Amino acid sequence: MKIIAFQGSPRKDGNTELLLNEIIRGAGEHGSPVRTYKLNLMKIRPCQDCGGCDQTGVCILEDDMGPVYDDIRTADRIILASPIFFFGLSAQAKALVDRCQSFWCEKYLLKKPIEEGPFGRKGLLVLVGGMKKEIGIECGNASAKAFFRTISVSEHTVLSFLGVDAKGAIKDHPTALAEAYETGKALAKS
Ligand SMILES: Cc1cc2nc3c(=O)[nH]c(=O)nc-3n(C[C@H](O)[C@H](O)[C@H](O)COP(=O)(O)O)c2cc1C
Repeated sequence: MKIIAFQGSPRKDGNTELLLNEIIRGAGEHGSPVRTYKLNLMKIRPCQDCGGCDQTGVCILEDDMGPVYDDIRTADRIILASPIFFFGLSAQAKALVDRCQSFWCEKYLLKKPIEEGPFGRKGLLVLVGGMKKEIGIECGNASAKAFFRTISVSEHTVLSFLGVDAKGAIKDHPTALAEAYETGKALAKS
């Protein structure tokens, strides 16, 4: 099974990364290594709405998204992890999502959705917010749902935590890291 993950926080060793590390550990100990993309360290231009992918489903921008497209196409499990910024995904995560417009063209204009492998295609959204406002989860999940459906992931689960603000504060949460580990384990076994 192929699992890929996108880490959308700019904060190294921050709450998103700590949760994702546990998910990866859970998946890895149950048979599936995870290839992780640290989006903040990558050069990913925002979508230019140039229409370059309309006829082909292939993005014409040349940057670090190149290998990501292949990995999204061939993955069985896809994890999108992001802090909640201004009630939505981080800019790093949103840039990745928007650059999947080429898959949208491929699926909806060219009528060629990505095919499922033997394990099906499933998604996981991880969100962490400093405030205790559900709207951050609702908005982040709305964008993530559009992303997952565009890349032919028909179902995804959400692991989210609110009221976790300071760097590393997720470690003080009574169950979060254990939940993340179990989520990774379940993802690899499902
Ligand atoms: C630019 C910015 C915007 C933020 N906006 C929100 C928000 O709208 N809702 C919220 O719950 N937390 C918000 N936060 C707080 C972060 O979600 C919180 O600190 C989170 O734990 C960061 O995760 P990280 O350590 O993985 O980066 C914001 C933080 C920053 C830096």
